[in-house]
Amino acid sequence: MRKIFNIYQLVGHLSTFFDRMMTAADLPARLALKIFWGLDADAYQKFLTQAFAGIPQNFSGRLLEVPVGTGVLSLPVYRELDGADIFCLDYSNKMLDAAKERADQMNMRGVKFLQGDVADLPFADHFFDVVLSVNGFHVFPDKISAWAETYRVLRRGGIFCGCMYVKGENRRTDIFVNQFCDRQGFFSPPHETLASLEKILSDRYTRVEITNVESFAGFVCIK
Ligand SMILES: C[S@@+](CC[C@H](N)C(=O)[O-])C[C@H]1O[C@@H](n2cnc3c(N)ncnc32)[C@H](O)[C@@H]1O
Repeated sequence: MRKIFNIYQLVGHLSTFFDRMMTAADLPARLALKIFWGLDADAYQKFLTQAFAGIPQNFSGRLLEVPVGTGVLSLPVYRELDGADIFCLDYSNKMLDAAKERADQMNMRGVKFLQGDVADLPFADHFFDVVLSVNGFHVFPDKISAWAETYRVLRRGGIFCGCMYVKGENRRTDIFVNQFCDRQGFFSPPHETLASLEKILSDRYTRVEITNVESFAGFVCIK
């Protein structure tokens, strides 16, 4: 946990670099997305769409996002959800600082930001209508608690959705994840495959839909 914390504190300091990468903002970012993640421009758009596919149109309930990171992907989505009550949680206060600054710049004062651990969420049972996790589960060190906690805080009939890296879909990505992301502490193995993810989700949720773009699995589940 300390290793993950330290690395994302550093990423938080270098958040503009992280944000350029996550948004395919320039040529080096687009090249890296293609080489390491197999995502060309079309595939990147599909990745984005699948990441947020589970949020209902004009959603106006209570939503938890964990982890929010710098909010670079999700805050533009929340800007369109006027009536929603949005809570964003991350373990790294540096990542959160970057997210808060972005929300201020976007004039989004209603979004709440909390520092915390997905393995021990500071919310009552069944509190949320939607729980969203974008690029979180391949990072979380204690995945068993993370699956349990995201389930616990969701109401019956609520939606658990998002996306994560899965192994076995792109050989080059798997080598990159294994040799770089895991070793440097950006990600936490063991990683799921599409099949093992489907099993984890189906064991808990009543309805599960999984899609994938290269090594990114998108999931939309109903509790
Ligand atoms: C790859 S970033 C993803 C951020 C964002 N969702 C995105 O896609 O841009 C992973 C984030 O997970 C956070 N994180 C790692 N372990 C965590 C934990 N146990 N609880 C909450 N957040 C955690 C890190 O601080 C980091 O901000």
